[in-house]
Amino acid sequence: MGSQLELAGSRGVVAGEDNVAQLRGVHFAIDQKLIFRGLDVALRRGEVTAIMGPSGTGKTTLLRLITGQIRADSGTVEVDGRDVAGLGRKELYALRRRMGMLFQHGALLTDFDVFENVAFPLREHARLPERLVRSLVLTKLHAVGLRGAARLMPQQLSGGMARRVALARAIVMDPDILIYDEPFAGLDPISMGVVMRLIRSLNDALGISSVVVSHDVREIAQIADQSYILSEGKVVASGSPKELHDHPSPIVRQFLEGLADGPVPFHYPAPDYYGQLLAAGQAARGRGPARCGPVPASSSRARAR
Ligand SMILES: Nc1ncnc2c1ncn2[C@@H]1O[C@H](COP(=O)(O)OP(=O)(O)OP(=O)(O)O)[C@@H](O)[C@H]1O
Ligand SMILES: [Mg+2]
Repeated sequence: MGSQLELAGSRGVVAGEDNVAQLRGVHFAIDQKLIFRGLDVALRRGEVTAIMGPSGTGKTTLLRLITGQIRADSGTVEVDGRDVAGLGRKELYALRRRMGMLFQHGALLTDFDVFENVAFPLREHARLPERLVRSLVLTKLHAVGLRGAARLMPQQLSGGMARRVALARAIVMDPDILIYDEPFAGLDPISMGVVMRLIRSLNDALGISSVVVSHDVREIAQIADQSYILSEGKVVASGSPKELHDHPSPIVRQFLEGLADGPVPFHYPAPDYYGQLLAAGQAARGRGPARCGPVPASSSRARAR
């Protein structure tokens, strides 16, 4: 697979029509808090694109922009060459039907068995004869290796199986784009490997395009054709897994190597540590007020005695 990935990465910049979705110069703020300030991301058709970045950096927000759940303040979000902001309700609805989504907390319906959970989108969105529903659901369950679990209830599934059922449900409408938000969260290494390989094999077998938000850097590097690392409202690095692996930027190194401190600081902004401890100590001894900060351990011990 390694050489395949390198090949994909070495294709370089591709023309716009090769991108199934494209964000250009996107600015977006929530409650005056700037989330994106000039975001440029392209999802190449037929490929698996990974989106990574520190928590709270806007990865889920990016997915919501692509699905048209929210709109950019400025810049453009195009899916299949069409500006999502310009779509009416019906068109947006049609667009979303072409997208399958697998969310971290995309829980299954607990009162329905596995079969009915996967059948749910079909029953909601399409009036199909029961025989066709049955064959579509069983095909998708077979694809994720769970045809034999069709009549189990969600409570009878392991976390990994539940994620695979959710994946079967995400592909039951034959989407063109599959969107995953933290698909590996909470899975043991074996289940993670299974889901990881499914993401890649479904992408290729179904001829779709996938976008995967994940913190699992090593795992995602094994299946992604292109990856983007976001930080502070922008893309700080992008490329094939190999290109990112060799990337010199400190923030990319910090993220890929899982270092606690670096350009993304370990400490939340705070006043000078020693000054604060000194002031707190003086306050505890009654020599002056502490300007800020927690009560030091020594004074709470003193009170406890
Ligand atoms: N509905 C909302 N109202 C207010 N703030 C929000 C809302 N949704 C997201 N945010 C803020 O926007 C920022 C980006 O959130 P987002 O969920 O996209 O981050 P993320 O990169 O997906 O994080 P994580 O890795 O933890 O899932 C965060 O600071 C979050 O607090
Ligand atoms: Mg998120």
